[in-house]
Amino acid sequence: MDNDLHSDSPDSFAEAQVSDQKPRIIAIANQKGGVGKTTTTINLATALAAVRKRVLVLDLDPQGNASTGLGIEQAERQINAYHVMIGEATLDEAILDTVIPGLSVVSSGVDLSGAEIELIEFEDRLFRLKSALAGQLEGYDYVLIDCPPALGLLTVNALNAADAVLVPLQCEFFALEGVSHLVRTIDRIKKAYNPDLEIQGIVLTMFDSRNNLSEAVATDVREFFGDIVYDTVIPRNVRVSEAPSYGKPVLLYDTACAGSQAYIHLASEVLKREKMLAI
Ligand SMILES: Nc1ncnc2c1ncn2[C@@H]1O[C@H](COP(=O)(O)OP(=O)(O)OP(=O)(O)O)[C@@H](O)[C@H]1O
Ligand SMILES: [Mg+2]
Repeated sequence: MDNDLHSDSPDSFAEAQVSDQKPRIIAIANQKGGVGKTTTTINLATALAAVRKRVLVLDLDPQGNASTGLGIEQAERQINAYHVMIGEATLDEAILDTVIPGLSVVSSGVDLSGAEIELIEFEDRLFRLKSALAGQLEGYDYVLIDCPPALGLLTVNALNAADAVLVPLQCEFFALEGVSHLVRTIDRIKKAYNPDLEIQGIVLTMFDSRNNLSEAVATDVREFFGDIVYDTVIPRNVRVSEAPSYGKPVLLYDTACAGSQAYIHLASEVLKREKMLAI
């Protein structure tokens, strides 16, 4: 890949980097479908890799959109997240390189759609992913888990394995109701299983400045959730929706477009928060 992406980062961005110890595991979750989870996972991962973070994307959605969007062919997915969850492969065996330096991926496979049922047999079914990741992430700064649009066993495994959750929220009617339900689930997971789980933040996606509803939803969400909502808003941008069909993050497909620039800003904010959370 071109090293264009590995530019010297702006000062504020460079300063924001955490000189890392242990990898941070961030689940990208929202049980609502089509809100920008996968797009955020792919592009945030790419933006972090661009500032020389070592990033692993874990595609935990049977739809496999993150794998496709990162250019992973079906034939390359023989050992995937399913095998890791079920204990048939180690994490290392499932990790694939992408064309982006510093960015690797554990792909998803169709088998993963049956995993929710197969996992029921395991006593440690809520912690399969956590166990599979334990001690296996040396060299990584960030692991981003792309969750499926449901609050089933796969997402619960992601939330139990994660240090933090990042919630993409589409600027549309009912957005607040859906996310309130998610926040309650996160609280329950925190109380029952993973007391250190933090909300990294909420990112408003597919914002359309020509649509009054987008503005109204953004205002409501900020009023309700305050500072955990990132300042960065991801605009609705056709380049963002075109990029996956080329198997590329939009940051590679069209670095200058508004969507790419927004994801660069988001990465900068995420790193700043990581620095604050680490204090
Ligand atoms: N900022 C954007 N501008 C335009 N289109 C976008 C933007 N973000 C996402 N999309 C498009 O919206 C659709 C849904 O996005 P995405 O797949 O990221 O959502 P998701 O939450 O992962 O969906 P699912 O719940 O099915 O996993 C995709 O076709 C994607 O290309
Ligand atoms: Mg998705």
